[in-house]
Amino acid sequence: MPRQIDWLSILVQCKTNVQRRISPLLATLSKPQPNLGIGAGGDPMRQVDLAAEKAIVETLRKHDLQFTLVSEESGLKKYGKNPQENYITTDPIDGTTNLTRGIPFYATSIAVSTKPTLETVHAALVADLFHDVTYTAQNGKGAHRNGRKVTPSGNTLLEEAVIGIDINSYKVQKITSQLTRLIQRTKHIRHFGANALELCYVADGTSDAFIDIRGKLRTTDMAAAWLIIREAGARMTSPTGEPLKVKLDPKQKVEFVASANQEMHETILNLLRHEKDEE
Ligand code: IPD
Ligand code: CA
Repeated sequence: MPRQIDWLSILVQCKTNVQRRISPLLATLSKPQPNLGIGAGGDPMRQVDLAAEKAIVETLRKHDLQFTLVSEESGLKKYGKNPQENYITTDPIDGTTNLTRGIPFYATSIAVSTKPTLETVHAALVADLFHDVTYTAQNGKGAHRNGRKVTPSGNTLLEEAVIGIDINSYKVQKITSQLTRLIQRTKHIRHFGANALELCYVADGTSDAFIDIRGKLRTTDMAAAWLIIREAGARMTSPTGEPLKVKLDPKQKVEFVASANQEMHETILNLLRHEKDEE
């Protein structure tokens, strides 16, 4: 009989180990940092990123798990005899710039899947490491925040909505025309700098939508939040309304719109579509 694995308990242990491992490094962030090269996702690696990844792998290995790691830092790595049994897709620290600058908004993100594809993700954790708030989800079992079931907001009015938009891109002129009408209709635009966590804010009703159409976000950053959004009952599709069917790979990029409910989702997609048609 295949071994029953309590993924949520293991993911929470990973998170606790990440906190333990990065804690001594937090005090050293103002000192000059060693040059550790570029990670698989294309950004410079920092000691905290590597320490967090090490903590995740160490915890999984302690449970004798066989898996393929899909990480923003080390890329693809195989562990155990049958590494294709499980895929662990992680952004060990999402929001590294926030962390290094002392902005209290950064997370660890871990997704478990049976294949290296988004639609096979079946267990997930995103944890706000500063405030110690943990979001988890399991396929068919709902999404939880510190163990309590979450539901997205019922707000359908764009004018009242809190909308996250990531416009953090050198090629911003490519997306601004598509976003103009949406921005003109809203009063509360936000971007906090850790997209995994910002997606969880849609899942639990803290915000009403989160949009990233830059074509720049890696699937390692959103794989876990995708399940949390879905299990909470919120919506998340491509900017043209298609289901997200993407490979889990540190180099794979993704664009999406996540909304609290279908009405809000359609309103946003229509505004994005309209602008694209006018280009
Ligand atoms: C970053 C954050 C940020 C987004 C960047 C991501 P990282 O993740 O999610 O909000 O604008 O595109 O790379 O690099 O801190 O893991
Ligand atoms: Ca990262």
